[in-house]
Amino acid sequence: MSKLALVTGATSGIGRAFAERFAADGYDLIVVGRRRDRLAAFASGHPGVRVRTVAADLSTEEGIDSVAEYCAGEPLDVLVNNAGVSHYMPLAELPADKARELVNVKVLAPTLLMRAAVGGMQQRGTGTLINVAGMIAFSGPADPSVMPRRAVYAGTLAHLVAMTQALSAELAGTGVRAHVVCPGVVATEFHSAQGLDMSAVPRMSAEDLVTGALRGLELGEVVSAPGVEDPGLLQDVFAADLAAFGGQSPQLATRYRSS
Ligand SMILES: NC(=O)c1ccc[n+]([C@@H]2O[C@H](COP(=O)([O-])OP(=O)(O)OC[C@H]3O[C@@H](n4cnc5c(N)ncnc54)[C@H](OP(=O)(O)O)[C@@H]3O)[C@@H](O)[C@H]2O)c1
Repeated sequence: MSKLALVTGATSGIGRAFAERFAADGYDLIVVGRRRDRLAAFASGHPGVRVRTVAADLSTEEGIDSVAEYCAGEPLDVLVNNAGVSHYMPLAELPADKARELVNVKVLAPTLLMRAAVGGMQQRGTGTLINVAGMIAFSGPADPSVMPRRAVYAGTLAHLVAMTQALSAELAGTGVRAHVVCPGVVATEFHSAQGLDMSAVPRMSAEDLVTGALRGLELGEVVSAPGVEDPGLLQDVFAADLAAFGGQSPQLATRYRSS
């Protein structure tokens, strides 16, 4: 029997590259996005595998629930939570509906889709959950002069990284794996969709990004960063996280005591 992958945001960029790769590997697919014409074009372009298209808006409760039904009801081998928007903007200027859209698509949808899929995967003793976050998850301390205003977007990516790490530990020994890939800048429609011209910036291809994520899984990585040459850099981040976490005590630290 063919394997089955569900990919959100499969109508362009990284999601389409994931879907293309799984189709080339013989997977049946459930492809999700809002643009029906592109979903249909993907299906007709891949007659060799079974492709089901699901038009859903993951910024809405109804859209998330409709995709969650597939995640709970279908024997998924792979779930890729890839759909995303960025809405780079200073927080005070970010319209409430855009903040809600961003958090729904990048936090609520992946959380509820993984929740829906993971039980069946555990019962079957196999499955892979892949989240697409980004290096901006680690950019919080960056000097504001070099980065776009991105507080909500950065927070959503950090959620995906921390959730995947904790979930990966929770799933140890079940046969189910959780993985998060952290792209840097990738040549897709992501930036142009919000009017940013990144054509002068060197960008990774979506195909290389997918190759990196899948190779990272093979290497046993929970967090992959296809554009980071030195894997020790990420290990240092995680070691520092754990050291700070383990360094706490119930005593008020000396520097916070009044002089
Ligand atoms: N490109 C980069 O430089 C970069 C860097 C770091 C991380 N990422 C992450 O990579 C992921 C994929 O982005 P991309 O670069 O491939 O961008 P993209 O080409 O703009 O693709 C975004 C995908 O998300 C889908 N999507 C957006 N809002 C949706 C909604 N409300 N409901 C359902 N689907 C929705 C879009 O489909 P429809 O429009 O058809 O709904 C589209 O397929 C994003 O989550 C982003 O955070 C990208």
